Amino acid sequence: MPSAYAQRFARLTELLAHWQPLWAPEPFRYRRAPWGAAFPALEAWLLGLDEAERERLEAAPFAASRLADWLPVAELAALSEVAPLPEAAGTPPLPEAWATHVGGRKWAQIGAFAARLAPAPAYLEWCAGKGHLGRALARRDNARVIGLEWQASLCQAGQALAEAQGADLSLHEQDVMADSAADWLTPGRQLVALHACGDLHGRLVRRAAEGRLPLTLAPCCYQRTAETSYRPLSRQGERAMAEHGLALPREQLALAVQETVTAPRQVRLSRARANAWRLGFDELQRELRGEDRYLPVPSLAYGRLPDDFAGFCRWAAAEKGLSLPPHLDWARFEAAGATRQARVERLELVRHLFRRPLELWLVLDRLLCLEEAGMAVRLGTFCERSLTPRNLLIQAR
Ligand SMILES: C[S@@+](CC[C@H](N)C(=O)[O-])C[C@H]1O[C@@H](n2cnc3c(N)ncnc32)[C@H](O)[C@@H]1O
Repeated sequence: MPSAYAQRFARLTELLAHWQPLWAPEPFRYRRAPWGAAFPALEAWLLGLDEAERERLEAAPFAASRLADWLPVAELAALSEVAPLPEAAGTPPLPEAWATHVGGRKWAQIGAFAARLAPAPAYLEWCAGKGHLGRALARRDNARVIGLEWQASLCQAGQALAEAQGADLSLHEQDVMADSAADWLTPGRQLVALHACGDLHGRLVRRAAEGRLPLTLAPCCYQRTAETSYRPLSRQGERAMAEHGLALPREQLALAVQETVTAPRQVRLSRARANAWRLGFDELQRELRGEDRYLPVPSLAYGRLPDDFAGFCRWAAAEKGLSLPPHLDWARFEAAGATRQARVERLELVRHLFRRPLELWLVLDRLLCLEEAGMAVRLGTFCERSLTPRNLLIQAR
């Protein structure tokens, strides 16, 4: 009898594979939704949405969504539901005095993560950064903690903090992808990783499964992988992908971690303007090149955006080696960009429905890999999504 996790994973595989033609294409690349011909009423309904309703659905994709007329909204919502993991007994909140040198948000995440760990005598922190989590655990449990981190400067800064606070933490400069990282994975140490990216946490999961080592992991950035196409960790993942013909190119994995925490208003406005200008430039370049195809333009760091649309287009054209005619109707292209932006934001609502299901599918693949190794596993959230959208926690022992 497959576990409840395995059943959920199997159904998610089916849904993700079936609806991939709708959730995978990024609307900004297209003038018309690639699925528009197959679902004309859906496209028309989305494009007709007023701004208030669009914003509401963006904030809460599953709530009272008319998309249910076309898509399995209720089932996706049910499959995405994850309950909070109960706090472990004997874990009082971390003293606020220990929060110095840690950002407020990070400290709150560490507190929530630590609360799910029963006191233990020894830990190994994977991709530790400055070892903020490891240091907190070392102090809370009087534990010996080893942290692995490849950046020497972070190891040094973290080591100095640990010594100043009398925490038994030693940070080691170590590439966790190297074979030598396995030397640290000795029995008796709880493995912990908070927001270790793609391949880095993938390696940890495989090693934990091989050695049946207890693990608590909050994964993130699934798209940060050397594989151009997703390679499942679990045998069930391999079978299910083959059965449903599901292939996941690396770029598609990014949907699972698309930003969902609301950025400050100023940043959001600037981002929206940049996106509209990009689409305005896209209209322009299609016309100039006589080729109706999206042309990717490099990203610009926040604050580096030129002052006006013409300035942006000059920059983008130079980046792409395109020469611009001396006279251009800038207003026309700028307006076309704004129109396309409004369309993109509406078509994106379809993708939003599959964002959490895809993330959950990826997390379940990791969990099943551990379960297949004979470990007892559980999955839950460790904090609210407003604290970090990457709030899913895997525990295996
Ligand atoms: C997203 S940060 C998370 C850090 C810390 N756990 C936290 O929550 O603040 C990922 C960390 O992994 C480290 N890292 C990246 N690649 C690594 C590798 N191959 N070996 C060891 N550490 C690595 C980075 O330097 C960074 O400190």
